[in-house]
Amino acid sequence: MYERDAVSPEADVEEHQIEGALRPKALSEFVGQHRVREQLSLVLHSAQRRNRAPDHILMSGGPGLGKTTLAMIIAAELGAPLRITSGPAIERSGDLAAVLSTLQEGEVLFLDEIHRMARPAEEMLYVAMEDFRVDVIVGKGPGATAIPLDIAPFTLVGATTRAGMLPAPLRDRFGFTAHMDFYEPAELEQILHRSAGLLGAPLEAAAAGEIAGRSRGTPRIANRLLRRVRDYAEVRGDGRLTLANARAALELYEVDPLGLDRLDRAILDVLLNRFRGGPVGLSTLAVSVGEEAETVEVVAEPFLVRSGFLARTPRGRVATPMAWTHMGLTPPPDAAFGAAMGASGRNPGSSAGNNGGRGNGRQADGEQGENSP
Ligand SMILES: Nc1ncnc2c1ncn2[C@@H]1O[C@H](COP(=O)(O)OP(=O)(O)OP(=O)(O)O)[C@@H](O)[C@H]1O
Ligand SMILES: [Mg+2]
Repeated sequence: MYERDAVSPEADVEEHQIEGALRPKALSEFVGQHRVREQLSLVLHSAQRRNRAPDHILMSGGPGLGKTTLAMIIAAELGAPLRITSGPAIERSGDLAAVLSTLQEGEVLFLDEIHRMARPAEEMLYVAMEDFRVDVIVGKGPGATAIPLDIAPFTLVGATTRAGMLPAPLRDRFGFTAHMDFYEPAELEQILHRSAGLLGAPLEAAAAGEIAGRSRGTPRIANRLLRRVRDYAEVRGDGRLTLANARAALELYEVDPLGLDRLDRAILDVLLNRFRGGPVGLSTLAVSVGEEAETVEVVAEPFLVRSGFLARTPRGRVATPMAWTHMGLTPPPDAAFGAAMGASGRNPGSSAGNNGGRGNGRQADGEQGENSP
């Protein structure tokens, strides 16, 4: 299985620790996501003026876009204590009851990966969110009784990478939903300069631009590439993060100028050179690059589709003209660009986070194309 390294949007335990140091602590320090920031600022400040806990807040968006960061900022802006737990940690409703019944008034409860919470706990959460009450079940079987227990008014901040997987009754109980989009290169540059300052690494503007362009619209990737470039500059250079150092380091880590890594490029290479740009079925494509179909579909394709290199059509995967240009090739005159061409678009932010790989992706999955060459 391909272990994505440099450009994975997800973080391991060690990286989570490093990230803590780079987290902005106030809304004013949080870069980008202007609409979310403004809406959130209103929600928080109006609640403070009324001296009440704000509405429950749901944050949805892909990994590494700043959900955890924003949850911490919300508590900090409110001057409220923060309790952190996650969906997978809540296996039974009792786990949730234990958390809810010990909340202080006005506390912010951050429930990460809320879509992975156990079903029975979900129902307990509905009641808690709406009525600030939990029903504690005492006894078993027919003799069991529910004892209602009042809990302190709190604000739930839920985070999910899969808003579509939340049951509607849960989604409806949030007063405000923040949709996190991919970041623009200029915003990533700003984040990079801030992080470089915290790391004490002198980052030149051109190097920041270079790193930002390869970060796939994701602050986590930008910060990671920054650390790689810093390491490179320290060991091979004079410690300054220059354009030349940035380019050399990112080449070493096989992150190309648009943020494609080795697997992404292998897929495009096979698609263009062996299948003349497609259409080709997913499993054929996967076998040709020596990977599982799932790896190709889940790890590589979303970004390739979002950036307009690849289209999923009913007849299979098809390379776009941009893919040919990016790989330094000229498409043959009879290349099929697929009907999906215009549909995949070049707008990274808008669609990928919410339905990437689901919704429309599934239907145009190209399994019928399995028997092509
Ligand atoms: N708007 C931002 N401004 C500055 N830094 C940011 C911003 N958003 C994210 N970061 C940085 O990116 C890293 C990842 O952010 P964060 O952990 O909040 O992502 P996440 O959405 O919670 O990811 P996951 O879904 O994996 O939990 C952190 O180091 C954080 O400092
Ligand atoms: Mg997080």
